Amino acid sequence: MRIGVLTGGGDCAGLNAAIRAVVRRTDYYGHEVLGIRNGWAGLLDNERIEPLTVREVSGILPLGGTILGTSRTNPFKNPDHVRQVLANLERHGLDALIAIGGDDTLGVAAKLYDEHNSRVVGIPKTMDNDVNGTDYTIGFNTAVSIVADALDKLHTTASSHHRVLVVEVMGREAGWVAVIGGLAGGADFILIPERPCKIEVVCKHLERRRQMGKDFSIIVVAEGAIVPDITTSAGPGTTDAFGHVRLDRRNIGELVGREIERRTGFETRVTVLGHLQRGGPPTLFDRVLATRFGVAAVDYIQEGRYGYMPGLRGTEIVPCKLCDAVKVNRTVDLALYELAQLFY
Ligand code: F6P
Repeated sequence: MRIGVLTGGGDCAGLNAAIRAVVRRTDYYGHEVLGIRNGWAGLLDNERIEPLTVREVSGILPLGGTILGTSRTNPFKNPDHVRQVLANLERHGLDALIAIGGDDTLGVAAKLYDEHNSRVVGIPKTMDNDVNGTDYTIGFNTAVSIVADALDKLHTTASSHHRVLVVEVMGREAGWVAVIGGLAGGADFILIPERPCKIEVVCKHLERRRQMGKDFSIIVVAEGAIVPDITTSAGPGTTDAFGHVRLDRRNIGELVGREIERRTGFETRVTVLGHLQRGGPPTLFDRVLATRFGVAAVDYIQEGRYGYMPGLRGTEIVPCKLCDAVKVNRTVDLALYELAQLFY
């Protein structure tokens, strides 16, 4: 059997651990792996689709990024591209394909399976943690560890200067990174897409804190946060192949910081963590999760269970239908958000 593997969408920590697990488990069954470069783009341009052996994946477990490269290519934007992908799968004699990705990449995998009967299995990854059917996606734990570490560092400087520190984190439609990172790092206010909140409310809270003698504050803002009394715009021409707006252009952190300073007079600084949250070595949790997902994905192929991805539910790895996983984004558990609010 010959199995193709690709990584698509934004990179994150733990992708290489998943690739290594796929190769090692496939080798265990005596099958072969072909590595596809740059996500779905690799199946379109058909360049460098090459064997990936145990030797090539040796030593990549702790390595950030993806040795296969990635892209945000969407073959379903053009019916010819879909035909090309199917033809190239055939041309390379691929009996099955493992797509490691977030909702966009897995959405393409689900469509290939549902509409074209392709033998595809997914593996959920994204630092945003917004894929249904799994409690955790690969890359999330590393990202929130980076956020918590940054908040620890920002606390000492905020406290020394008696400032408000606004920290913008990633999180397009879901505020998982902001809520869990903020909870772990002791945030004094968290703004997320799921719970619109006026800047007026944030400022009142900051003023209350000052009256209580707390002369510094840390505000965590998800890049997709909705703050109704602040106008944001990413500007024209800033959408990707899946129609997502580039939220870094929205500058929500900067706008929130500016408005807090203007309204309260408190000296305010803004830090945008950006792609730091996606880089570097995976945490122990992500290494183990990626390894378990990689092994499970190959096992599904071995069992002929296509159109699924492994998910983590509690401590168990369970199969989840790709079409169910990609229907809607998995948004924040509001009970967790309310828990974080207790510590403001
Ligand atoms: O897809 C995950 C994500 O990390 C989002 O939170 C963020 O909006 C986006 O990627 C940014 O991606 P890039 O700058 O790589 O296009």
